Amino acid sequence: MTEPHAPHKSENTHLLYEFAYREPATLADLLVLMDQYGNEAELLAGGTHLMTQLKMNRTQPKVVINLNQIPDLKGISVNAAGELVIGANTSIHEIEFNAEVQAHYAALAASCASFGSKQIEIMGTIGGNLCNGSPASDTPPALMIFDAKVVLLSSKGTREMLLADFLVNPRETKRKENEIMLAVVLPKPVENSASAFLKITRVVADLAKASIAIRVQRNGDTIVNCAISMGAVAPKVIRLPRAEAHLTGKKFSESLLSEAAQIVSEDITPIDDVRSTTWYRREVSKAMTLDTFRMAWENCGKKQTVKLDGMENLFSTLNHAPIDLNENEERDIFIKLNGRDRKVRVQPHELLINVIRDRLELTGAKYGCGIGECGACTVLMDGMAVLSCLTLAVHADGRAIMTVEGLEGKPGKFDPVQEAYMESQAFQCGYCTPGFLMATKSLLNELPKPSEDDIRDYLKGNRCRCTGYASIVRAVVNSVEKQ
Ligand SMILES: Cc1cc2nc3c(=O)[nH]c(=O)nc-3n(C[C@H](O)[C@H](O)[C@H](O)COP(=O)(O)OP(=O)(O)OC[C@H]3O[C@@H](n4cnc5c(N)ncnc54)[C@H](O)[C@@H]3O)c2cc1C
Ligand code: FES
Ligand code: FES
Repeated sequence: MTEPHAPHKSENTHLLYEFAYREPATLADLLVLMDQYGNEAELLAGGTHLMTQLKMNRTQPKVVINLNQIPDLKGISVNAAGELVIGANTSIHEIEFNAEVQAHYAALAASCASFGSKQIEIMGTIGGNLCNGSPASDTPPALMIFDAKVVLLSSKGTREMLLADFLVNPRETKRKENEIMLAVVLPKPVENSASAFLKITRVVADLAKASIAIRVQRNGDTIVNCAISMGAVAPKVIRLPRAEAHLTGKKFSESLLSEAAQIVSEDITPIDDVRSTTWYRREVSKAMTLDTFRMAWENCGKKQTVKLDGMENLFSTLNHAPIDLNENEERDIFIKLNGRDRKVRVQPHELLINVIRDRLELTGAKYGCGIGECGACTVLMDGMAVLSCLTLAVHADGRAIMTVEGLEGKPGKFDPVQEAYMESQAFQCGYCTPGFLMATKSLLNELPKPSEDDIRDYLKGNRCRCTGYASIVRAVVNSVEKQ
């Protein structure tokens, strides 16, 4: 049965701006759309940035083009020249847990791990992280120390450029309106080298006050060469060539490193903003240079520890017909909701949270901030935690969605995770609890035996205003024992 279509209730909880929606299945189809719509189109990769911009009326595209059905945009491989090629639509989470990235591009893995929320990491992509042009994005410093290139594609062909040249100003890149980012390419790893990344934030789940990545190659005590890049300290992510030159070719000493750190603090051009002050950013940049350089220096030539998770193919492309919806047009989507096949008629701009709560009448997923910051709306999509307030319902077509109502244990029992939360008294008002439970399920799907650090890291994007996190962490530890 098709569920009846409920009217929107308020702007705070729903996305009211209407647009047409296209879901091409091949790059060729995508390029036709790019030529047709140009700057009237917005591309939807993970949607974590785009959805917040739409909600805040900062962009008003005629059409949203979803990239997620195009397999050529996803995945990580090593090409014949030994370069690492990362498809633009590869998730931040997949990059973090890629063995090649962890072994040879440690700064990049660390920058992905530093994202403010696990759900954003799972949904967000590297293409979105670079194309939104934010000076506070986490992956650009880590990519720029490797002289990473971006590959751009349009109907006229491909062009490549250094990421350092691609980024121009806040929210401004060299991408032309009919181009898409196809991939990011990192040069072959260099012998006896290592890299490290550090991010300073107000609270752990936040954008950077300042971030830094350093790559160094050493021969005994000599710094053969080094690259330093910083984020959130200038209108775009920058390299620090004067500090790099000061270190390159010299014997390592703490006084030499301190001089380089001083140069870094002089060459950045930070501003005062909501996250920090110019003074603090200059001061902290010195300590960040010292710590990050030492980490990279110590690791030169050493084999990096590789930590993999249990989920290899996140949100694989689906084998369904390409979707073409005009503004106001409706379409049936089919989802397996808590194990049951459901059909529901949606418009392109409708959000998954609204469809689940208003139309399918499962009110477990809660509406909190509406912009990705609290985790209250977390549901599982194909087994992984996503934010239903930043997910278009039409994007869920063909996928398995699980809400807190779908949790169950042995006959007549709660799910072991629910039992553990109750036994550990890990809730008071309970508003955040469905989100925490679903994030915990996602964690255990990936890492059946997480450490306490893994638990704190995985739940960093979920906010609780009453209970206190210690009892929640205790509950997750208990649920591991109950599995
Ligand atoms: C609560 C919250 C926390 C966040 N925390 C962090 C954080 O800690 N660190 C951080 O760096 N960022 C953070 N972000 C910002 C954002 O989530 C990331 O930048 C993310 O990587 C964006 O990727 P996406 O796939 O979701 O982009 P989308 O929102 O899908 O797209 C972003 C923009 O890029 C364009 N685009 C996407 N893919 C392509 C492509 N292949 N070719 C051309 N254009 C493309 C889109 O048109 C759009 O304009 C956060 C955001 C939120 C809401
Ligand atoms: S309501 Fe979705 S993250 Fe807050
Ligand atoms: S238990 Fe009340 S917000 Fe977490």
